[in-house]
Amino acid sequence: MPVIAITSPKGGVGKTTLAAHLAAHIAAQGWKVVALDLDPQNALRLHLGLSIREESGVMAQLSESTDWQAAMLDTPFGVQLLPFGNADPVDALDGYAAIMEDPGLLAHPLREIAQRPDTVVLLDTPPGPNPATAALLPLIDLTVLVLLTDGGSAAMIPRIADHSFMGRSATARRAAERAVVVLNQYDPEAPLAEAVLQMAERSLGGRLFGTIRRDEAVAEALADKQLLLDDDTPAAQDIHAFAEAVIREARLRKPGRRGGFSALAEWGG
Ligand SMILES: Nc1ncnc2c1ncn2[C@@H]1O[C@H](COP(=O)(O)OP(=O)(O)OP(=O)(O)O)[C@@H](O)[C@H]1O
Ligand SMILES: [Mg+2]
Repeated sequence: MPVIAITSPKGGVGKTTLAAHLAAHIAAQGWKVVALDLDPQNALRLHLGLSIREESGVMAQLSESTDWQAAMLDTPFGVQLLPFGNADPVDALDGYAAIMEDPGLLAHPLREIAQRPDTVVLLDTPPGPNPATAALLPLIDLTVLVLLTDGGSAAMIPRIADHSFMGRSATARRAAERAVVVLNQYDPEAPLAEAVLQMAERSLGGRLFGTIRRDEAVAEALADKQLLLDDDTPAAQDIHAFAEAVIREARLRKPGRRGGFSALAEWGG
């Protein structure tokens, strides 16, 4: 079953927010979802309703003897979470160095998990280039690239359009070719946002999945340990359509059924 990565060259764009919502949305439809946090900020656990005191994780002390099954935490949203873990910065760098030395440390156990029936693996990644995402590139079936509708994001669009943003290797280009883009924190009233959206539409065509509106309800839900799943707020509506579009793009079939895509909603840019 597919491995879906939520990535961005930029920080603070909503990767973790969208990873948590996407994981919960897919789990609610009957798939087994395993979410892996590759970011030393270790924030995905908070978005998935776990306590700030939960400090366990796989990435902080990654080794060949890591017990991945034992490390999985149940979350209130039906998602199985593999947190990064609470890592001292030096330990996090050591972990990354170990992955650069031996990408299989991460890729082999992840491949085994992804091969389980009806299981979808979601990756929340740190911003920009990093050894963990690089190690998993050959396994990633769908990259969801999150950007904003600001000048910094607009500057990155040409490299996304020509598939060079993940690097020059054949694996990186293949992953980039399969990437789709979502523009988060979109304000339809802002002229700059509108201009960036139009540029993205022109440059990316059908690879631009759409926009998710800026909405205070997103931060409020996080503070309440909730996700905007069945809500009626602007961001909740957009996130729902985004999740359906990802299900369709990843060609997820209804668990236990053969044939037929499960995504029902059409969602244009
Ligand atoms: N659609 C939205 N409307 C309003 N606020 C949003 C929206 N999406 C995300 N946010 C807010 O933006 C901030 C950054 O979100 P998040 O932590 O998910 O980004 P990130 O890309 O994972 O950041 P980092 O690069 O640090 O990992 C959070 O405060 C979040 O609540
Ligand atoms: Mg994040």
